[in-house]
Amino acid sequence: MSILKFIVCLLCLFSFRTVSCDFGSIGVNYGRVADNLPDPSKVVQLLKSNGITRVKIFDAHPSVLSAFVDSGINVTVTMPNQLLSSAATDLSFTDSWLKARIVPFFPRTRIEAIAMGNEVFMDSQNTPYLVPAMQNMFASLLKLGFAHDIKISSPIAFSAFENTYPPSSASFKSDLKPVIEPMLDFLQQSGSYLMVNIYPFFAYEANKDNISLDYALLRPNQGVKDPANGNVYQSLFVAQLDAVFAALDKMYYDDIKVVVSETGWPSAGEDTEYGAGPENAALYNGNLVRRVLTGGGTHLRPNHTLNVFLFALFNENQKNGPISERNYGLFYPNQQKVYDIPLSLDALNIAVPSPPNKGTGSSVDKGAEPSWMCEIAGQCKHHMQSSGSNQPRVSPGKFGVLPCSLLLLYFLIGM
Ligand SMILES: *[C@@H]1O[C@H](CO)[C@@H](O)[C@H](O)[C@H]1NC(C)=O
Ligand SMILES: *[C@@H]1O[C@H](CO)[C@@H](O)[C@H](O)[C@H]1NC(C)=O
Ligand SMILES: *[C@@H]1O[C@H](CO)[C@@H](O)[C@H](O)[C@H]1NC(C)=O
Repeated sequence: MSILKFIVCLLCLFSFRTVSCDFGSIGVNYGRVADNLPDPSKVVQLLKSNGITRVKIFDAHPSVLSAFVDSGINVTVTMPNQLLSSAATDLSFTDSWLKARIVPFFPRTRIEAIAMGNEVFMDSQNTPYLVPAMQNMFASLLKLGFAHDIKISSPIAFSAFENTYPPSSASFKSDLKPVIEPMLDFLQQSGSYLMVNIYPFFAYEANKDNISLDYALLRPNQGVKDPANGNVYQSLFVAQLDAVFAALDKMYYDDIKVVVSETGWPSAGEDTEYGAGPENAALYNGNLVRRVLTGGGTHLRPNHTLNVFLFALFNENQKNGPISERNYGLFYPNQQKVYDIPLSLDALNIAVPSPPNKGTGSSVDKGAEPSWMCEIAGQCKHHMQSSGSNQPRVSPGKFGVLPCSLLLLYFLIGM
């Protein structure tokens, strides 16, 4: 444990507020649709130096997987959409895919999951292959004895849901039920989790007159109430995540965990892509990292940690579409930061808690308060920063460094 964490913990001993003490995790999508990216081995160093312990890639390329050998970084790989039909129809295909792609590297490369395709329902031709492909992959993993260690899932787009506002009214689109139900059965039976791509940016961009930017960027705001249950959401991200949980609850799959397999905010865009820009991207991603690593669960899943993969590691110059598509990166290809935000608990603790926000501290997202100090077993478990703090902020506050250092000194001398 770092001294800084320790300091922050000491701070928490002197405050009062109970909240659950779960930690989420931050991963990053390492996309490679570009002709100017650093070698995978440099990328591993970049991730390590930023304290990132989870990565997701959009293929299972040996040059990447070999770079992650003994890195200690968890890797989620992807079988591309165009292979799903073969995987669905032929068990020997998934056998040999694993033999070529996974067996040479696992477990020294810590492959934690295989994503079967990405946003498969966007092309309805692939949809029928999805669940059989997942089942075949699972059968092949079982043969190798890896089925316990490597999960199988498939990222779905947020467009797979309907009536997502308010969150409690959300459900899976009815035309997807024939594939969603067996997929959820599969996830449940194999002890895996649902992957969902969630982009508040798209909702904001399309409805900027009706969605507050502060709410979209996880900045302090009045919150938005779900009239059906009175839950007040401080961020569109958490509201959208609870829409996913509400949809699962409606189908009685309330025990399935959810991982946000992509989320992000572009640092540049067309004139018509409202909200795109470096400041907003830094605020969204920075506030989200803080929320995930320190803020507990959601209204509908107060005890679940949030597990989120940011999109993306690099700006990718060969992506099609509007300008935003090439500007989701946290880093430029030369490994410089596009904007400076903490990406790990250690980096957050150096940035130190922001001062309690002024104004009401009343009804907030569950666990929105910082809770990184809870890591220290027992002591801090039921203590929280004092009242008034409702939303994490990206700005590194001065607050806390000095008093905490004094506390630590006091503590050390006291020993
Ligand atoms: C890495 O994956 C393993 C399972 O393979 C899991 O137990 C562990 O919590 C993961 N660690 C991180 C940092 O995600
Ligand atoms: C905002 O809400 C109003 C009223 O609910 C609606 O008429 C309007 O179309 C909405 N605007 C956008 C951009 O969605
Ligand atoms: C969350 O955990 C608390 C304490 O362990 C428990 O009392 C509560 O029922 C749990 N809530 C849910 C929704 O599981």
